[in-house]
Amino acid sequence: MTAGKVASANIDWSSLGFSFIPTNGHMKYTWKDGKWDQGEFVTEPWINMHIASSGLNYGQECFEGLKAWQCKDGKVRLFRPQNNADRLRYSASKACMVAPSRELFLEAVTRVVKENIEYVPPYGSGGSLYLRPLLVGNGPMLNLIPSNEYTFIVYAVPVGNFYKDGIKTTNAIIIDDFDRAAPLGTGSVKLGGNYAPCLPSTQAAHEAGYTMALFLDAATRTYIEEFSSCNFIAVINGESIEDTTIITPDSPSILPSITTQTILELAESFGWKVIRRPIPLEEVRSGKFDEIAGCGTAVIVTPVHTIHHQGQDIKITSNKTLGPALEKIYSTVRALQMLEIEDKFDWSYPAEGF
Ligand SMILES: *Cc1c(COP(=O)(O)O)cnc(C)c1O
Ligand SMILES: *[C@@H]1O[C@H](CO)[C@@H](O)[C@H](O)[C@H]1NC(C)=O
Repeated sequence: MTAGKVASANIDWSSLGFSFIPTNGHMKYTWKDGKWDQGEFVTEPWINMHIASSGLNYGQECFEGLKAWQCKDGKVRLFRPQNNADRLRYSASKACMVAPSRELFLEAVTRVVKENIEYVPPYGSGGSLYLRPLLVGNGPMLNLIPSNEYTFIVYAVPVGNFYKDGIKTTNAIIIDDFDRAAPLGTGSVKLGGNYAPCLPSTQAAHEAGYTMALFLDAATRTYIEEFSSCNFIAVINGESIEDTTIITPDSPSILPSITTQTILELAESFGWKVIRRPIPLEEVRSGKFDEIAGCGTAVIVTPVHTIHHQGQDIKITSNKTLGPALEKIYSTVRALQMLEIEDKFDWSYPAEGF
Protein backbone atom coordinates (compact mmCIF):
# COMPACT_ATOMS: atom_id res chain seq x y z
CA MET A 1 0.00 0.00 0.00
CA THR A 2 1.32 3.45 -0.82
CA ALA A 3 1.57 5.76 2.13
CA GLY A 4 0.48 9.27 2.58
CA LYS A 5 -3.14 9.90 1.74
CA VAL A 6 -5.86 10.26 4.30
CA ALA A 7 -8.64 7.68 3.90
CA SER A 8 -7.05 5.99 0.86
CA ALA A 9 -7.34 2.46 2.37
CA ASN A 10 -9.85 0.16 0.75
CA ILE A 11 -12.49 0.42 3.46
CA ASP A 12 -16.21 1.12 3.40
CA TRP A 13 -16.03 4.03 5.86
CA SER A 14 -19.79 4.12 6.34
CA SER A 15 -19.95 0.56 7.65
CA LEU A 16 -17.11 0.77 10.19
CA GLY A 17 -17.97 -0.20 13.75
CA PHE A 18 -15.81 -0.40 16.86
CA SER A 19 -13.79 -3.57 16.47
CA PHE A 20 -10.24 -4.48 15.59
CA ILE A 21 -9.28 -4.39 11.95
CA PRO A 22 -5.69 -4.67 10.72
CA THR A 23 -3.80 -1.52 9.76
CA ASN A 24 -0.24 -0.88 8.56
CA GLY A 25 1.19 -1.48 12.02
CA HIS A 26 1.94 -0.14 15.49
CA MET A 27 4.67 1.76 17.32
CA LYS A 28 6.73 -0.15 19.83
CA TYR A 29 9.22 1.23 22.37
CA THR A 30 11.24 -0.74 24.92
CA TRP A 31 12.56 0.51 28.26
CA LYS A 32 15.59 -1.47 29.33
CA ASP A 33 18.80 -0.74 31.23
CA GLY A 34 17.39 2.55 32.43
CA LYS A 35 16.30 4.07 29.13
CA TRP A 36 13.77 4.03 26.31
CA ASP A 37 14.94 2.95 22.86
CA GLN A 38 14.25 4.93 19.67
CA GLY A 39 11.06 3.03 18.97
CA GLU A 40 10.15 1.19 15.82
CA PHE A 41 7.16 0.83 13.57
CA VAL A 42 6.13 -2.83 13.57
CA THR A 43 3.90 -4.20 10.83
CA GLU A 44 2.81 -7.47 12.47
CA PRO A 45 0.12 -7.17 15.18
CA TRP A 46 2.01 -9.28 17.75
CA ILE A 47 4.44 -8.61 20.56
CA ASN A 48 6.94 -10.89 22.28
CA MET A 49 6.05 -11.30 25.93
CA HIS A 50 8.30 -13.03 28.40
CA ILE A 51 6.37 -15.93 29.98
CA ALA A 52 7.46 -14.70 33.43
CA SER A 53 6.69 -11.02 32.70
CA SER A 54 5.02 -8.99 35.44
CA GLY A 55 2.47 -7.91 32.83
CA LEU A 56 1.24 -11.43 32.09
CA ASN A 57 1.65 -12.78 35.61
CA TYR A 58 0.60 -9.91 37.84
CA GLY A 59 -1.26 -7.54 35.55
CA GLN A 60 1.39 -4.82 35.56
CA GLU A 61 -0.27 -3.09 32.61
CA CYS A 62 -2.11 0.15 31.91
CA PHE A 63 -3.63 1.71 28.81
CA GLU A 64 -5.11 4.81 27.21
CA GLY A 65 -7.65 5.60 24.50
CA LEU A 66 -7.77 8.63 22.21
CA LYS A 67 -8.73 9.52 18.67
CA ALA A 68 -7.41 11.24 15.55
CA TRP A 69 -9.71 12.87 12.98
CA GLN A 70 -9.50 14.43 9.61
CA CYS A 71 -10.69 17.97 10.26
CA LYS A 72 -12.66 20.30 8.06
CA ASP A 73 -9.45 21.75 6.60
CA GLY A 74 -8.26 18.27 5.56
CA LYS A 75 -5.56 18.02 8.23
CA VAL A 76 -5.46 15.23 10.80
CA ARG A 77 -5.52 16.15 14.47
CA LEU A 78 -5.69 14.58 17.91
CA PHE A 79 -7.74 15.93 20.81
CA ARG A 80 -5.95 16.80 24.07
CA PRO A 81 -3.35 13.98 23.78
CA GLN A 82 -1.24 15.69 26.47
CA ASN A 83 -3.96 14.72 28.95
CA ASN A 84 -3.68 11.08 27.89
CA ALA A 85 0.10 11.25 28.25
CA ASP A 86 -0.25 12.62 31.77
CA ARG A 87 -2.91 10.09 32.72
CA LEU A 88 -0.76 7.20 31.46
CA ARG A 89 2.05 8.47 33.65
CA TYR A 90 -0.34 8.64 36.61
CA SER A 91 -1.57 5.09 35.91
CA ALA A 92 2.00 3.83 35.59
CA SER A 93 2.94 5.40 38.94
CA LYS A 94 0.10 3.46 40.61
CA ALA A 95 1.60 0.13 39.51
CA CYS A 96 5.31 1.03 39.93
CA MET A 97 5.85 1.13 36.17
CA VAL A 98 8.30 3.20 34.17
CA ALA A 99 6.22 5.46 31.90
CA PRO A 100 7.12 7.28 28.69
CA SER A 101 7.63 11.03 29.03
CA ARG A 102 4.95 13.33 27.67
CA GLU A 103 7.24 14.02 24.69
CA LEU A 104 7.76 10.34 23.93
CA PHE A 105 4.02 9.68 24.23
CA LEU A 106 3.24 12.52 21.80
CA GLU A 107 5.88 11.29 19.37
CA ALA A 108 4.43 7.77 19.52
CA VAL A 109 0.82 8.80 18.90
CA THR A 110 1.69 11.18 16.07
CA ARG A 111 3.98 8.63 14.41
CA VAL A 112 1.37 5.90 14.51
CA VAL A 113 -1.13 8.24 12.85
CA LYS A 114 1.34 9.21 10.17
CA GLU A 115 2.20 5.56 9.45
CA ASN A 116 -1.50 4.70 9.22
CA ILE A 117 -2.68 7.83 7.46
CA GLU A 118 -4.62 5.78 4.85
CA TYR A 119 -6.75 4.45 7.69
CA VAL A 120 -7.86 7.82 9.04
CA PRO A 121 -11.55 8.00 8.04
CA PRO A 122 -12.46 10.92 5.78
CA TYR A 123 -13.89 14.16 7.15
CA GLY A 124 -17.66 13.96 7.11
CA SER A 125 -17.86 10.18 7.66
CA GLY A 126 -18.06 10.64 11.41
CA GLY A 127 -15.34 8.05 11.84
CA SER A 128 -11.96 8.41 13.50
CA LEU A 129 -8.69 6.61 14.01
CA TYR A 130 -8.84 5.20 17.52
CA LEU A 131 -5.43 4.98 19.21
CA ARG A 132 -4.71 2.53 21.98
CA PRO A 133 -1.48 3.17 23.92
CA LEU A 134 -0.45 0.26 26.17
CA LEU A 135 2.29 0.04 28.75
CA VAL A 136 3.22 -3.39 30.05
CA GLY A 137 5.89 -4.85 32.35
CA ASN A 138 7.79 -7.30 30.19
CA GLY A 139 10.77 -8.33 32.31
CA PRO A 140 10.97 -11.84 33.79
CA MET A 141 10.06 -11.18 37.43
CA LEU A 142 8.90 -14.34 39.13
CA ASN A 143 8.56 -12.43 42.39
CA LEU A 144 5.96 -9.72 42.86
CA ILE A 145 8.34 -6.85 42.20
CA PRO A 146 8.26 -4.12 39.54
CA SER A 147 9.51 -5.18 36.12
CA ASN A 148 13.02 -4.32 34.92
CA GLU A 149 11.77 -3.96 31.34
CA TYR A 150 8.73 -2.24 29.82
CA THR A 151 7.06 -2.34 26.43
CA PHE A 152 5.13 0.73 25.28
CA ILE A 153 2.84 0.11 22.32
CA VAL A 154 0.53 2.41 20.39
CA TYR A 155 -1.77 0.75 17.90
CA ALA A 156 -4.43 2.30 15.72
CA VAL A 157 -7.83 1.09 14.53
CA PRO A 158 -10.24 3.02 12.30
CA VAL A 159 -13.65 3.21 13.97
CA GLY A 160 -17.00 4.36 12.66
CA ASN A 161 -19.60 6.87 13.71
CA PHE A 162 -21.44 5.11 16.51
CA TYR A 163 -24.33 7.53 16.07
CA LYS A 164 -24.75 7.34 12.31
CA ASP A 165 -28.46 6.61 12.80
CA GLY A 166 -28.81 9.41 15.34
CA ILE A 167 -28.28 9.47 19.09
CA LYS A 168 -30.74 7.34 20.99
CA THR A 169 -31.28 7.25 24.73
CA THR A 170 -30.61 3.87 26.27
CA ASN A 171 -30.99 2.06 29.59
CA ALA A 172 -28.68 1.14 32.46
CA ILE A 173 -28.78 -1.15 35.47
CA ILE A 174 -27.23 -0.52 38.87
CA ILE A 175 -24.95 -3.37 39.87
CA ASP A 176 -25.54 -4.58 43.42
CA ASP A 177 -23.39 -7.68 43.66
CA PHE A 178 -19.98 -6.32 42.66
CA ASP A 179 -17.80 -3.32 43.56
CA ARG A 180 -15.80 -1.89 40.67
CA ALA A 181 -13.47 0.03 42.93
CA ALA A 182 -12.69 0.25 46.63
CA PRO A 183 -12.51 3.72 48.24
CA LEU A 184 -8.71 3.55 48.47
CA GLY A 185 -8.33 1.16 45.53
CA THR A 186 -7.40 1.69 41.90
CA GLY A 187 -10.70 2.82 40.39
CA SER A 188 -9.09 6.07 39.24
CA VAL A 189 -6.37 4.21 37.36
CA LYS A 190 -6.62 2.90 33.79
CA LEU A 191 -5.08 -0.44 34.78
CA GLY A 192 -6.06 -3.42 32.62
CA GLY A 193 -6.74 -5.36 35.83
CA ASN A 194 -9.72 -3.13 36.66
CA TYR A 195 -11.69 -4.15 33.60
CA ALA A 196 -11.90 -7.94 33.31
CA PRO A 197 -13.55 -8.13 36.76
CA CYS A 198 -16.37 -5.92 35.39
CA LEU A 199 -17.16 -8.44 32.65
CA PRO A 200 -19.50 -10.68 34.68
CA SER A 201 -21.58 -7.61 35.64
CA THR A 202 -21.66 -6.12 32.17
CA GLN A 203 -22.40 -9.48 30.59
CA ALA A 204 -25.26 -10.12 33.02
CA ALA A 205 -26.55 -6.60 32.35
CA HIS A 206 -26.52 -7.21 28.59
CA GLU A 207 -28.24 -10.58 28.96
CA ALA A 208 -30.96 -8.89 31.03
CA GLY A 209 -31.45 -6.30 28.28
CA TYR A 210 -29.47 -3.36 29.70
CA THR A 211 -26.87 -1.47 27.72
CA MET A 212 -24.79 -0.10 30.56
CA ALA A 213 -23.76 -1.23 34.05
CA LEU A 214 -23.71 1.52 36.67
CA PHE A 215 -21.66 1.13 39.85
CA LEU A 216 -22.28 2.62 43.29
CA ASP A 217 -19.64 3.57 45.85
CA ALA A 218 -18.27 0.46 47.51
CA ALA A 219 -18.27 1.81 51.07
CA THR A 220 -21.93 2.82 51.47
CA ARG A 221 -23.65 1.73 48.24
CA THR A 222 -25.61 4.97 48.32
CA TYR A 223 -23.66 7.22 45.92
CA ILE A 224 -23.35 7.02 42.14
CA GLU A 225 -19.81 6.31 40.92
CA GLU A 226 -19.66 5.56 37.21
CA PHE A 227 -20.42 3.11 34.41
CA SER A 228 -18.05 0.22 33.60
CA SER A 229 -16.13 2.23 31.02
CA CYS A 230 -17.48 5.77 31.12
CA ASN A 231 -18.22 8.50 33.66
CA PHE A 232 -21.63 9.66 34.89
CA ILE A 233 -22.95 13.17 34.27
CA ALA A 234 -26.32 14.66 35.12
CA VAL A 235 -28.06 17.83 34.02
CA ILE A 236 -30.65 20.02 35.68
CA ASN A 237 -32.42 22.23 33.17
CA GLY A 238 -33.25 25.79 34.12
CA GLU A 239 -35.75 28.30 32.79
CA SER A 240 -33.57 28.68 29.73
CA ILE A 241 -30.49 26.90 28.43
CA GLU A 242 -28.31 29.57 30.10
CA ASP A 243 -29.55 28.32 33.49
CA THR A 244 -28.32 24.77 32.98
CA THR A 245 -26.57 22.99 35.85
CA ILE A 246 -24.25 20.09 35.14
CA ILE A 247 -23.19 17.69 37.89
CA THR A 248 -20.69 14.86 38.00
CA PRO A 249 -19.69 12.66 40.95
CA ASP A 250 -16.71 13.65 43.03
CA SER A 251 -15.03 10.45 44.19
CA PRO A 252 -11.45 9.23 44.50
CA SER A 253 -12.42 5.90 42.94
CA ILE A 254 -13.72 7.03 39.55
CA LEU A 255 -11.62 7.32 36.42
CA PRO A 256 -10.69 10.95 35.63
CA SER A 257 -12.26 11.09 32.16
CA ILE A 258 -10.81 13.60 29.71
CA THR A 259 -14.24 13.79 28.06
CA THR A 260 -15.85 14.74 31.38
CA GLN A 261 -13.16 17.36 31.91
CA THR A 262 -13.83 18.73 28.42
CA ILE A 263 -17.60 18.79 29.00
CA LEU A 264 -17.22 20.62 32.31
CA GLU A 265 -14.84 23.20 30.83
CA LEU A 266 -17.22 23.77 27.91
CA ALA A 267 -20.20 24.04 30.25
CA GLU A 268 -18.32 26.67 32.23
CA SER A 269 -17.59 28.57 29.01
CA PHE A 270 -21.35 28.52 28.28
CA GLY A 271 -21.89 30.17 31.67
CA TRP A 272 -23.55 27.05 33.08
CA LYS A 273 -23.26 26.00 36.69
CA VAL A 274 -20.72 23.19 37.04
CA ILE A 275 -20.68 21.04 40.16
CA ARG A 276 -18.47 18.15 41.19
CA ARG A 277 -19.84 16.54 44.32
CA PRO A 278 -20.97 13.17 45.59
CA ILE A 279 -24.33 12.25 43.99
CA PRO A 280 -26.62 10.15 46.20
CA LEU A 281 -28.59 7.50 44.31
CA GLU A 282 -31.60 8.96 46.14
CA GLU A 283 -31.27 12.15 44.09
CA VAL A 284 -31.46 10.17 40.86
CA ARG A 285 -34.50 8.34 42.25
CA SER A 286 -36.18 11.61 43.21
CA GLY A 287 -36.32 12.74 39.59
CA LYS A 288 -34.10 15.76 40.19
CA PHE A 289 -32.12 15.27 36.97
CA ASP A 290 -33.50 16.07 33.52
CA GLU A 291 -30.70 14.45 31.55
CA ILE A 292 -28.22 11.72 32.51
CA ALA A 293 -25.45 10.30 30.35
CA GLY A 294 -22.33 8.25 30.31
CA CYS A 295 -19.31 10.06 28.89
CA GLY A 296 -16.03 8.94 27.42
CA THR A 297 -13.83 9.13 24.33
CA ALA A 298 -15.60 6.36 22.41
CA VAL A 299 -18.92 8.16 21.81
CA ILE A 300 -18.63 11.41 23.87
CA VAL A 301 -22.07 10.99 25.51
CA THR A 302 -24.51 8.11 25.88
CA PRO A 303 -27.84 9.50 27.11
CA VAL A 304 -29.88 7.31 29.46
CA HIS A 305 -33.69 7.17 29.62
CA THR A 306 -34.10 4.61 32.42
CA ILE A 307 -31.97 3.28 35.27
CA HIS A 308 -32.99 -0.05 36.71
CA HIS A 309 -32.37 -0.83 40.37
CA GLN A 310 -33.63 -3.73 42.51
CA GLY A 311 -36.64 -4.53 40.37
CA GLN A 312 -37.60 -0.91 39.83
CA ASP A 313 -37.24 1.32 36.80
CA ILE A 314 -36.14 4.88 37.56
CA LYS A 315 -37.36 6.95 34.64
CA ILE A 316 -34.99 9.78 33.73
CA THR A 317 -36.59 11.05 30.53
CA SER A 318 -39.14 9.96 27.98
CA ASN A 319 -37.06 11.63 25.26
CA LYS A 320 -35.64 9.32 22.65
CA THR A 321 -32.57 11.48 21.97
CA LEU A 322 -30.26 13.93 23.73
CA GLY A 323 -31.96 16.64 25.74
CA PRO A 324 -31.12 20.28 24.97
CA ALA A 325 -28.08 20.64 27.28
CA LEU A 326 -26.32 17.46 26.24
CA GLU A 327 -27.15 18.17 22.61
CA LYS A 328 -25.37 21.52 22.89
CA ILE A 329 -22.39 19.88 24.58
CA TYR A 330 -22.21 17.02 22.09
CA SER A 331 -22.43 19.18 18.98
CA THR A 332 -19.84 21.62 20.37
CA VAL A 333 -17.35 18.85 21.20
CA ARG A 334 -17.78 17.35 17.72
CA ALA A 335 -17.37 20.73 16.05
CA LEU A 336 -14.22 21.41 18.09
CA GLN A 337 -12.75 18.00 17.25
CA MET A 338 -13.29 18.62 13.51
CA LEU A 339 -12.27 22.27 13.82
CA GLU A 340 -15.57 23.40 12.38
CA ILE A 341 -15.52 26.14 15.00
CA GLU A 342 -12.63 28.10 16.43
CA ASP A 343 -10.61 26.11 18.99
CA LYS A 344 -10.16 28.85 21.57
CA PHE A 345 -9.18 26.22 24.14
CA ASP A 346 -6.23 24.99 22.08
CA TRP A 347 -7.36 21.38 22.47
CA SER A 348 -6.51 20.23 18.93
CA TYR A 349 -3.07 18.79 18.35
CA PRO A 350 -1.50 18.28 14.90
CA ALA A 351 -0.97 14.59 14.18
CA GLU A 352 0.97 14.48 10.93
CA GLY A 353 4.24 16.28 11.41
CA PHE A 354 6.50 15.22 14.28
C1 LIG B 1 -11.40 5.44 30.00
C2 LIG B 1 -12.53 5.49 30.98
C3 LIG B 1 -13.41 6.57 31.05
C4 LIG B 1 -13.43 7.69 30.02
O1 LIG B 1 -12.28 8.44 29.95
P1 LIG B 1 -12.03 9.36 28.67
O2 LIG B 1 -10.72 9.97 28.92
O3 LIG B 1 -13.12 10.35 28.62
O4 LIG B 1 -12.07 8.44 27.49
C5 LIG B 1 -14.35 6.60 32.07
N1 LIG B 1 -14.45 5.59 32.95
C6 LIG B 1 -13.65 4.51 32.91
C7 LIG B 1 -13.82 3.44 33.93
C8 LIG B 1 -12.67 4.44 31.91
O5 LIG B 1 -11.88 3.36 31.85
C1 LIG C 1 -36.81 16.54 25.26
O1 LIG C 1 -36.35 17.01 24.00
C2 LIG C 1 -36.91 18.23 23.59
C3 LIG C 1 -36.33 18.55 22.21
O2 LIG C 1 -34.93 18.64 22.27
C4 LIG C 1 -36.60 19.34 24.59
O3 LIG C 1 -37.22 20.54 24.22
C5 LIG C 1 -37.06 18.90 25.97
O4 LIG C 1 -36.64 19.85 26.92
C6 LIG C 1 -36.46 17.55 26.32
N1 LIG C 1 -36.87 17.13 27.61
C7 LIG C 1 -35.99 16.73 28.52
C8 LIG C 1 -36.58 16.34 29.84
O5 LIG C 1 -34.80 16.65 28.30
